[in-house]
This record gives sequence, C-alpha cells and structure tokens, in this order.
Amino acid sequence: MRKRVIAGNWKMNMLPNEAIDFINNLAPLVKDTKNEVILCVPYTDLFYSLLTVQETNIHIGAQNMHWEEKGAYTGEVSAEMLKSINVEYVIIGHSERRQYFNETDETVNLKVKSALKHGLKPIVCVGETLKQREEGKTSEVITSQINKALSGLEKEDLQNVIVAYEPIWAIGTGKTASSEDANESIKEIRKEIENKFDTNDITILYGGSVNEKNAKELFSMSDIDGGLVGGASLKVDIFSQIANCN
Ligand code: 13P
Repeated sequence: MRKRVIAGNWKMNMLPNEAIDFINNLAPLVKDTKNEVILCVPYTDLFYSLLTVQETNIHIGAQNMHWEEKGAYTGEVSAEMLKSINVEYVIIGHSERRQYFNETDETVNLKVKSALKHGLKPIVCVGETLKQREEGKTSEVITSQINKALSGLEKEDLQNVIVAYEPIWAIGTGKTASSEDANESIKEIRKEIENKFDTNDITILYGGSVNEKNAKELFSMSDIDGGLVGGASLKVDIFSQIANCN
C-alpha cells in the first residue's frame, strides 16, 4: 500500500544521549502527523532510540545489515539481531555503502531477502551518478538497480518494502533534483515494478537534499510518496517541519 513516509537517515551522527534528546523533542512535534515518521539511526543508538520512541508514533530503522544468518563475519550485524531488539526498518543499498563499502546489486538483493525473511522492512535505495545522468543513462541505471534489488521477491513482499530514489549527485550537495525530474524517475521505477510484479502499489521516496523548503513541492508530485532525509534530519525543528508536510 502506498503511504506517506518521512524517513530520516542520520548516517554516522548522533551519540545515544543526543538521540534520546532528539526523539524526546521530536515526539510532541510530530504526534498529530498522518505521515509515517521513521528515524534510521546508527547501531549504537538503536536500543536507546527504541526505548525512547515507546508510546510515540516514531518508528526506528537501522542503516545496514549483513545477509547471512550468523557466523564468522567480524563487525557485522544480522537481520535477526536487529529484529530481536524490535528494529522495524533497515536501509539497504544506500549509495554511500555502494560507493565506500563495495555494496553491489547482488549483496543488496541478498540483504533485501534476508531482511524480509526476518520480518524487517527494507528501505531499498537506488540512484544514478552525475556522469550517468549526463550520459542519458538514468533510466537504464535505476531500472537495472531496482530489478536486481527486488529479484526473487513475491508481489506480497512489496507491502513490506519501501524504495528510495536518491540521485547520487543530489546527496549532501544542496542540489535537489527538480520535482519533475524526481517524479519522472520515480514513475520509471514504478513502471518497472509494475512490469515485474503486476502492481505499482509500493511506497517510493525521494532522497537528496530534501529540506523544509522543498519538501512540500516534492511530496505533492503524483509518484513521490515522501522523503529519505539526510542532513535535514539532524535538526529537530527542521525535520519536524518536513515530517508534518502533507
Ligand atoms: P541529504 O539529505 O543530506 O542530501 O542526504 C540524503 C541521503 O543520503 C538520505 O539517505
């Protein structure tokens, strides 16, 4: 089911005490929103954040996981481990992980399947580089990424999957895709999903320099269901304004 989702991706920011303060300050500001509000926090904040969001409408996600169930994978965290402390969402295939940590379409797909198997809801990221966009390859790149990421899933699985279209050139640069361009790419992703699964009923977010000024226009577009917000999710007053956009 398509739903309006505003997800913050804190990336490698926020100590536990900062996370607790942030959530305590955010909760009253977003309590009446119809949007689903998610904070994807560092591993070390997960447990504190989960305790702090109790009796609020804020949901908590992780930013990565390993696809194997368990074993000799020093430094990794499995889907089952996240689920065991009641984490609900997990970002998979963020471009920073693809770029700096050798995440591939294949590992993204393994992670998506493992997340779903263990009852976590993946937020699957796709997006093109500036070079790919300039070469006119945006459509080819994002349809290929989404096809591979969702390979082997059933139509019913899509109810528990969120897709985030994040053009890499718009991340952390202050350059937002125009709402028309973002909508066009997301439409493309939706069409690809429809071809593959015979439904386009899936939540798809836009990410890349979303802020309190551009959010309303972006979210008003026909195919954009909300945002995955980086930098602007680190300030309570700004994030709360985005989270209340309708
Ligand atoms: P910014 O909002 O800081 O551009 O980051 C976007 C992002 O990467 C969210 O996952």
